[in-house]
Amino acid sequence: MRVGVVGLGTMGAGIAQLCVEAGLETVGREVTDDLGERARDRISHFLTRKVEKGQIASFDLGLLTLTTDLADLSDCDVVIEAIVEELQPKRELFAELERIGRADTVLATNTSALSVTEIAAATASPARVVGMHFFNPAPLMLLVEIVRAELTSDASFDTAFRLGEALGKHPIRCHDTPGFVVNRVLIPLLNDGIRVLDEARISVEDLDAGMKHGAGWPMGPCELVDLVGIDVHVHASEALYDKLREPRMAAPPRLVAMANAGLLGRKSGRGFYTY
Ligand code: CAA
Repeated sequence: MRVGVVGLGTMGAGIAQLCVEAGLETVGREVTDDLGERARDRISHFLTRKVEKGQIASFDLGLLTLTTDLADLSDCDVVIEAIVEELQPKRELFAELERIGRADTVLATNTSALSVTEIAAATASPARVVGMHFFNPAPLMLLVEIVRAELTSDASFDTAFRLGEALGKHPIRCHDTPGFVVNRVLIPLLNDGIRVLDEARISVEDLDAGMKHGAGWPMGPCELVDLVGIDVHVHASEALYDKLREPRMAAPPRLVAMANAGLLGRKSGRGFYTY
């Protein structure tokens, strides 16, 4: 199987890493050569660490081809999109992928809070559009949500599900409802956590310790929002709030202010914690 990955940021690079680790021919597309090279370095670093730790015997980075030209994805069996989390650029990309590619390529989006159906509607062949929602960090988190949009065909859904399994993930079957399954639950929980900081007058460290040691979370809400990216979390909250109108979905003002100030979490070096 030949897999295309469009966008090699945190999520796309993680997905491309999984494809290489699974021994699949992978074509990764970024907008500049430099961004592509950075992703390849990251993938090489993590796979080398896995070899050093004895988790895998070897890997073949030669399976990964980098390109800036979408046309190089024309012969893929599945293309996974992991570009900016905005509807219009995604719709334009899917229309373009349909124009340049084979008619039987499955087109998957890694969107976390947008509607797969609305993305699919930008194409004339929505039956082959499906959601494949990975979790951050994609190489470490076992789950992938396979999302059936209104017009997704059984064949496309099954291809995406089997690819999820081939990548070593635990796929679950979802419908295209706001936030699918995990974000529908997790986003309001994280927002509650941030509101509790002020309501309960506690420290960031104590909130995180509370949820880790009292609820068994692997990381506390503030650590997790820092990992996800405060801008990404605010954006996802706003998308869910727009659709569901539930107050708990709305991003707490404290997070919006942090995002506006460039405090984005790990990726900017500072969020609730300093990195
Ligand atoms: N590929 C391979 N290995 C990687 C990696 C990658 N991309 N990134 C990190 N690692 C490796 C590290 O190199 C590290 O190994 P070394 O230190 O030996 O090099 C190894 O993973 C373990 O790192 P940690 O010690 O940090 O691991 P941990 O045991 O503390 O677990 C964790 C880390 C899996 C992230 C765990 O803390 C966890 O499960 N946290 C919760 C994460 C979560 O909830 N994610 C979902 C976010 S929500 C989301 O993604 C949805 C959305 O739509 C926004």
